Amino acid sequence: MNVIDVTNLTKSFGSFTAVDHISFNVGEGELFGFLGANGAGKTTAMRMLCGLSAPTSGEARVAGFDVYKETEKIKQHIGYMSQKFSLYGDLKVWENIRLYGGIYGLSGKKLKEKTDELLHVLDLEGERNTLVDSLPLGWKQKLAFSVAIIHDPRIVFLDEPTGGVDPVTRRQFWELIYQAAERGITVFVTTHYMDEAEYCNRVSIMVDGKIEALDSPAALKASFNTDNMNDVFHALARKAKRGE
Ligand SMILES: Nc1ncnc2c1ncn2[C@@H]1O[C@H](COP(=O)(O)OP(=O)(O)OP(=O)(O)O)[C@@H](O)[C@H]1O
Ligand SMILES: [Mg+2]
Repeated sequence: MNVIDVTNLTKSFGSFTAVDHISFNVGEGELFGFLGANGAGKTTAMRMLCGLSAPTSGEARVAGFDVYKETEKIKQHIGYMSQKFSLYGDLKVWENIRLYGGIYGLSGKKLKEKTDELLHVLDLEGERNTLVDSLPLGWKQKLAFSVAIIHDPRIVFLDEPTGGVDPVTRRQFWELIYQAAERGITVFVTTHYMDEAEYCNRVSIMVDGKIEALDSPAALKASFNTDNMNDVFHALARKAKRGE
């Protein structure tokens, strides 16, 4: 079953088309990588799928709900970790968890249980009262991710969740992603790191608003005769530049 269904989805800002007739679907439980260079249109597309921005044209359903008419329903079934950092730096760790848990509809005993569980899993029990601003970036990212799935959504959208951190921290972050996927949460993730693309079941590669390729990492590499995802990425960018 598909939890994301997209047909010819398009977003224009004036005469500029940031997302240009993209079509794809994502299956339940899939770990889907949404790749593309800076400015390719990833964030713009993701915001439409999260019900945060209305498409110019095309169709999309997320968790079975329409991105034009049922945005409130969509928001109840998804988690979203935005590219711009989403936690409040001037609030303590536990205050951020309480705040987001509340926004996602948790309260009382359930919220307390989830908070304790989350701090335990992240090994952040000792930092409960620390201001988020004083945590290292990698910890903030792990916390932001955990908060985005605190309500066990069907799908979580992650917009460059590991930007700017070292490879060890990125691997730890991906452990959390795998755990979420094992719990049945569908993961839709953008990244600039090709090693992370390899962790996905399927990836799409976006160039100038269009999806130029979509398949498993293994199949993409095979079709470009390479064992390196970077080659695939750059070949598609060159092809698009030549206007093919
Ligand atoms: N509100 C807006 N008004 C005008 N242009 C916009 C707006 N939002 C995005 N764009 C443009 O749309 C294009 C796609 O931007 P978007 O942020 O979706 O790219 P991206 O793939 O997420 O890039 P990055 O990897 O840098 O995050 C860019 O050229 C950007 O300048
Ligand atoms: Mg972006």
